[in-house]
Amino acid sequence: MILDFDIKEESVENIDADLEIVFVVEKNFSHKWVRDEKLLKSLGFEGEDGEVCLLAESKRLYVGVESFDKDDMRGAISTALNSIKKTEFKIVKIGSYVDACPVSYMKGLVEGAILGTYEFDMYKSKKKEKKNKTLLVSLEDAREVPLNLSHAKKSLEEAKIIAEVTNNAKTIVNQAPDEMTPAKLAEYVQNLASELDDVECFVGDEKFLQEQKMGAFLAVSRASEHPPRFIHLTYKPKEAKEKFVFVGKGLTYDSGGLSLKPADFMVTMKSDKSGSASVISILEGVAKLKLPFEVHAIVGACENMIGGNAYKPDDVLVAKNGKTIEIRNTDAEGRLVLADCLCYASELKPDYLVDMATLTGACVVAVGEYTVGLMGHNSKTKHDVLKASKHSGELFATLQFNKYLKELIKSEVADVCNIASSRYGGAITAGLFLDNFVADDVKDKWMHWDIAGPAFVEKKWGYNQHGASGAGVRQALYWMSGKLSRKKH
Ligand code: BES
Ligand code: ZN
Ligand code: ZN
Repeated sequence: MILDFDIKEESVENIDADLEIVFVVEKNFSHKWVRDEKLLKSLGFEGEDGEVCLLAESKRLYVGVESFDKDDMRGAISTALNSIKKTEFKIVKIGSYVDACPVSYMKGLVEGAILGTYEFDMYKSKKKEKKNKTLLVSLEDAREVPLNLSHAKKSLEEAKIIAEVTNNAKTIVNQAPDEMTPAKLAEYVQNLASELDDVECFVGDEKFLQEQKMGAFLAVSRASEHPPRFIHLTYKPKEAKEKFVFVGKGLTYDSGGLSLKPADFMVTMKSDKSGSASVISILEGVAKLKLPFEVHAIVGACENMIGGNAYKPDDVLVAKNGKTIEIRNTDAEGRLVLADCLCYASELKPDYLVDMATLTGACVVAVGEYTVGLMGHNSKTKHDVLKASKHSGELFATLQFNKYLKELIKSEVADVCNIASSRYGGAITAGLFLDNFVADDVKDKWMHWDIAGPAFVEKKWGYNQHGASGAGVRQALYWMSGKLSRKKH
């Protein structure tokens, strides 16, 4: 679907369109835009969340939705548009509701429309025809909450950027592992950087990793036919406020290495590059939104494969900061790549350091497949990130570090072990492993986001279709934007 949006100040009744979308919120049929209550009821439409009913003759599409909450709106518009994707309705209008904050309402609609109608068809030999649709959102009732049209239009543009860069992250992840290799990912990032203002890109190869003494990252990469890439993207506008450094796990494939994954668990491991896709797309979003922050995106891109030269259980690796790591399982590889990237990131002296990774299956067990596991030492920062969920619609849950779990990654032969000695608490012990590679003066600035659950969607939920979801992108962008204004939409 090719979408276009506009905001209208007039009442929805006075807008010319092929179709009107009417929300039935909280099963309330008495709202003025609900003009077909009797007919709807006779058709069995109850206004349940996600329920749709097209009255083609009266050119109205009714959609049930639980509330005016931004995320409920994302889901409702996504359901609505997907139900008419094959139709010829081109101009679609949507009325305003006094109960909804106009800007938040409109942002929810725009984001939900773009995110919910995303389709990945790169590998389909027959592409489905993509229909053009224009969404006209009336903000008439918003006059009661004095609306500044240029402010609303600006918010519309922001919502478009946020959703589009999220979709770009999905497209990186959805590509097959033999296509999106570390070198290809680096090439993508270089092209991206050349298109953005104030953005620079550095790409390092194996030689660079050696110079940097990134022994852990190198070991993971070694058995692959596809050489690793270290990617460092920088967005530096004039008069930047704080410095954000994002680090992404970029395993373009995770076979598990010699501690090979069982066949069923290997499928979907192209998604092990999700953290990298997210940090790249966050930087793209920040640059397009022109946020006044200095932002870095650092990616450790490589493949975890098997071969005669593969790293092995019992190996001892030396990370960039000199710490030694006993390997007991080569499938716990993401933390090794991140270890070296976090040492490098610490040297940039960030005000905020966030790593994003599909790090552990244990995190999915702990918080479920829809939620990101949030870890770190700074309660205030974690709290701020949790608050951003209200706007981004992404689900986050904090997992607390504790000294007993820290004991479990001690090694008899090296400074630290790459897996814990217990079967339990694996998401947190992985986070505690990373903590070893965050410099002391940065500990309080660091957060770890384990996106293993939501990054890749196997059974579609909400407005997320099968495949990558771009987990972390909206959360980071809303969290950062929220730092700029008290009033957030
Ligand atoms: N990439 C996986 C984690 C993962 C699992 C992501 C499922 C998405 C869905 C990671 O590299 C891994 O294999 N972790 C191991 C760690 C274990 C060996 C300590 C895991 O979770 O089983
Ligand atoms: Zn693994
Ligand atoms: Zn992995």
